[in-house]
Amino acid sequence: MLQEANAIATKAGLKVRALTPGFGAEIMGIDLSRPLDDATAAAIRDIWVEAGLILIRDPQADDEAQMRLSRVFGEMEPAATADMNDPANQYMMTLKYDPADEKPRFQTNYNFGGHDRAGYIPWHWDQSFMPTIVRGAVLRMEQPASKLGQTGFIDAIEAYERLSPEMQDRIDGLEVVYHFITDFLQCRFGVPADLKALPRETKSGGAKYEFPPVVHPMVITQRETGRKALKISPLQAQYLLGMDRTESDALLLELGTHLTDESHAYFHDWQKNDMLVWDNWRMIHHAQGVPLDVARSARRTTIMGDYAVGRYLDPALDRNRAVKRIVD
Ligand SMILES: [Fe+2]
Repeated sequence: MLQEANAIATKAGLKVRALTPGFGAEIMGIDLSRPLDDATAAAIRDIWVEAGLILIRDPQADDEAQMRLSRVFGEMEPAATADMNDPANQYMMTLKYDPADEKPRFQTNYNFGGHDRAGYIPWHWDQSFMPTIVRGAVLRMEQPASKLGQTGFIDAIEAYERLSPEMQDRIDGLEVVYHFITDFLQCRFGVPADLKALPRETKSGGAKYEFPPVVHPMVITQRETGRKALKISPLQAQYLLGMDRTESDALLLELGTHLTDESHAYFHDWQKNDMLVWDNWRMIHHAQGVPLDVARSARRTTIMGDYAVGRYLDPALDRNRAVKRIVD
């Protein structure tokens, strides 16, 4: 078991360092320059399921190494927003902030804590506006930020286990309605109280997306272990289905504040070509953003999910319908 942060252990022949006392593990000594053998792939997967988040540090890692790692966790899924994908590789998405870019696609800059930030994204799990939860993602930092630019992670299993037995009973069976949000000032919780948007001229006219509301259970169970997770995506959660709105607002605020308590978070300080793989059925994450004059560039692959626990709020909509996807 992973006990103390920075403690090194050997697991299934792999060297593992805990990132926090509760979750996260760095796996050392993995050679991704050639195919992984089955035993090593199985060991990586097991460590990932146990830890929720794994780090592999390899300054030489490239797209090929990243895809090799991605396939350990399942089939990759191309992002349907073709303009964000590498024209030569549909599985590889580029997440980039370049201060010199005069045609930013959809990112608004923000200000909080007295500082301007580009690329800030509040706490969330990916694609909560879809009925099926993607399994995970691999993020490789091609060009780390010279300042800030950390990515934060919180374990929703740990958050569930920190709830009182009374609260665990109260939320059993509740469902959360999600709506896609691009204006973070509309977030109900999980954002700084002093958050302000910085108007930014977008010559392209910005990206507009219409996703119908989706419903997900508030608590989901990890298949492999039976542990429960407080599966709320703070960024897009709107209200609790079938509950009086005042009560719903109060309960979501209480649980959202509990879930996004950063004293339980791990913030990763990226080195060049670090790769982080998160279990999207379990972890929430958040991009701290960078100062407006600092560049940053990451490559992301997405792991397909079959966790069909959600549905469209409108029962007339086909849950498997094709939609245009976006990074959230
Ligand atoms: Fe995300």
